[in-house]
Amino acid sequence: MTVLVSCENYSDKSSKIKIGFSQSIDNDIWRKSMDHAMEVEASLHPEVSLTIYNSNRKAKNQIRDIENMIEQNVDVIIIAPYESDSIVSVIEKANTRGIPVIIVDRKVNTSNYTAFLGADNIEVGKIAGKQIVSLSKGNANVVEIRGESITSPGTERSIGFKQIIDQYPKIKLSSVNYDDSNSQNSKYVKFLSSNPNVDYVFAFNDIIAHKAWEITKKNFPNNRIKFIGVDGLNGPNGGLQLVKDRVLSGTVLYPTGGSEAIKLALRIINKEIVPKNNKLNTTMIDSLNADMMSSQFDKITIQQSDIEQQQNIIKNQEREYSTQNNLLKLLFFLFVIVLSLALYSIYSRIIISRKKQELELKNIKIKNQRNQIKSYSEELKLSNEARLNFFTGLSHEFKTPLTLILSSVESLESEFKNKGIFITKEINLMYNNSRRLLRLINQLLDYRKMEDQKFTLRASKTNILDFSKSIISDFDREAKKKNIDFSLTTTNPDLEVYLDRNLMDKVYFNLLSNAFKFTPEKGKISITIKEDKSNNTVKIYFKDSGIGIPDHELGEVFNAFYQGSNSNRNGSGIGLHLSKSFVELHKGNIEIHSKNGAEFIITLPLGMAHLNEKEIVQDPVLDYVHQSDYLDLEVIQKAELKNIEDKYSILYIEDNKDLLDFVSDKFSTDYTFFLSDGTDAVDRALELIPDIIICDLNLPEMSGLQICEILKKDLRTSHIPIIILTASDDENSYLKALESGADTFLTKPFNLKVLAQSIKGLLFNREKLRYYYSNNIVNIEEGSFGISEQDFLKKLNDLIGKNIENSSYTVEELARDLAISRVQLYRKVKAILGISISDHINNLRLHESKELLKKSNLSISEIAYAVGFATPNYFSSSFKNKFGMSPKEFKTLYHDPTL
Ligand code: FRU
Repeated sequence: MTVLVSCENYSDKSSKIKIGFSQSIDNDIWRKSMDHAMEVEASLHPEVSLTIYNSNRKAKNQIRDIENMIEQNVDVIIIAPYESDSIVSVIEKANTRGIPVIIVDRKVNTSNYTAFLGADNIEVGKIAGKQIVSLSKGNANVVEIRGESITSPGTERSIGFKQIIDQYPKIKLSSVNYDDSNSQNSKYVKFLSSNPNVDYVFAFNDIIAHKAWEITKKNFPNNRIKFIGVDGLNGPNGGLQLVKDRVLSGTVLYPTGGSEAIKLALRIINKEIVPKNNKLNTTMIDSLNADMMSSQFDKITIQQSDIEQQQNIIKNQEREYSTQNNLLKLLFFLFVIVLSLALYSIYSRIIISRKKQELELKNIKIKNQRNQIKSYSEELKLSNEARLNFFTGLSHEFKTPLTLILSSVESLESEFKNKGIFITKEINLMYNNSRRLLRLINQLLDYRKMEDQKFTLRASKTNILDFSKSIISDFDREAKKKNIDFSLTTTNPDLEVYLDRNLMDKVYFNLLSNAFKFTPEKGKISITIKEDKSNNTVKIYFKDSGIGIPDHELGEVFNAFYQGSNSNRNGSGIGLHLSKSFVELHKGNIEIHSKNGAEFIITLPLGMAHLNEKEIVQDPVLDYVHQSDYLDLEVIQKAELKNIEDKYSILYIEDNKDLLDFVSDKFSTDYTFFLSDGTDAVDRALELIPDIIICDLNLPEMSGLQICEILKKDLRTSHIPIIILTASDDENSYLKALESGADTFLTKPFNLKVLAQSIKGLLFNREKLRYYYSNNIVNIEEGSFGISEQDFLKKLNDLIGKNIENSSYTVEELARDLAISRVQLYRKVKAILGISISDHINNLRLHESKELLKKSNLSISEIAYAVGFATPNYFSSSFKNKFGMSPKEFKTLYHDPTL
């Protein structure tokens, strides 16, 4: 099927008049002329949309095309039928649907169509017949050549032709059907061969007439047959041209009716009443009117082509218009878009600026809230800090009363024991709980210190086995009491580890306390030290056979304030946390396993490469004197002061009256105890020149450190050992105490045994010094020991040396020269050298006399005066007293060559 769309109109398609045309034959000029005429006519009506279907000589195609047009619901259907019968039903269908049907050219065997348009073919036949009659004057041999198939025009033309010819008896009429498959064998050639006297041929149309002319000319060149055709189309190969060329003697004009069919269709659409049969005029074209007709037709053709040109111009303009229109629409559309975008953008800007304002307000609000939160948090931090400081201070404060309680308990126990009364159980209870309380306070303080990152490792080279032994001895008693197999083993008894003994002591104590807490009677607790040479570490295993720790809690035991589900005893929950922190300070780690009891494994790196300089100390100061919870009460050892005639004197400076009384009471049997509440500390020290000063750090007027500093700078008191007592055990206080010149630093609550031992230690050191000084009285070099005593002794000895000849140089004069009082001189010399100042002067005189006896030739009397003795006799007796021989004996002995 070929669909031709013509008369495309660029106006609004929805209001178009749809005309469908079913053309039955495509490839001949008469049909093309018909199509063209329709298109030209339709193009004159912009409202018309014409669609041409071509069924290519096939009835079924034509039926399909008409069905299609019905389906499309076109306004008018024009049909140029191929056959008369086959399309009847589809024509009737269109009719039933109310679609007007115009039949053109050939007839159909129904009357159910709207109109028929075409020339009268009987008349066509008659005109042809009349032309032959006229030319032959009624006497001729005539052959009629029919079309190859039977069509209504063919039949009717033949009828009309016969009606005329039959009127003339001298005209002989024969008929052949046209077939041009093989012109040599065609029926027409055969007919001519047997009938050579044919004068006229009437052919069904101009094409057949032309073919017949060609065949005749070719096969029968001498034949003078005249040919009459039908159609009379203008243009090349058209019947009109053939007449003009003398090929045909004439042709009957058979108009296509293309233009008329469109006009008729429009009339029908316009609801005009049209005749059912619309006859087109026909006429004979022969050599007489051919030129005139031709020029008429040419004019029409020119007009048509003008029209077409105009149409094309209009179409182009329409196209241009349409393009411009579309462009305009597009521009308008774009304009609308731009406008709406602009409006939207203005709207958005307004919204955004509103939102911005809102956001800014919110922002300001948030900022204010944030500042408020910040200030709250700062306030909170400050208040928290204040609370923590308060809490820390309070914890420190707890220590003093606890010291008193603990010391009182010790004292009580001792007294009862002396009196033979045994109330150990209650005392143990009091003691143990006080210790526990103290340990908890210490742990809390340690926790705070750890939180503040104030711990600095003070590691020193430590034999790990000895260290472990020293700690486990505190648990021996408990082990025995509970019948626990308590063991300590090592793979290397000489292994040395850099430890902060104070911290590691706490770790050991904590782990062992836990182990003892959870291990039942007859259980087992072991400490195993294993050196791991490949990793350069040591592992310390603390294993017990206690209840262990549930698997799901293993990961939490080191968290601060962790309370184990297994523990039905109260605990602060920071012991293990602190232990872990302390081990980590050593760059080590601690793990826990639980299988048939708990096992803690501490891993510590060996060597010192992992520590920085600040973390290493040569001589550790054990500021934390460890004691187990399990008191093994002993009576405080009496100070061994047997050989000392006078008791040593102690000045105890403390503002806590209870502690002052308690300590003085405790030590008054062994020492002469002087007390000061701190307000007159320096005066008292200068007045008394005691052998030891014990001084609290926090005093009302002057701090212990200030007192210490003043006394240590004063020549009169610089030699006196000072013990500083404090509730605060932080490194800073400790350092400051040492800087101020303090000799020992004890943390409250101090243990009485420790205090007693510290006093004894200091006195013992003092004795050693005395011994040294008294045996090197003249060899004392200034500053050689780096302590003030040397300076003092040097100055003292120099002054005595300078006045050695002066027997009247008194102690008063000497004291004045040293800018101190006589008593202070007396006490200081006594403290440093253990002898009186006059004895010391005497010793120096005697020592000098000894030298003179050795080195000079002076007489004994001369020597006696030279070293400041008033009389030679007093010199001799003093010398004998000191050295066990008279000066004379000494001189003889020294200068005896036999010795
Ligand atoms: C063209 C044609 C014309 C003739 C008409 C009859 O197809 O054969 O020559 O006049 O059809 O239908």
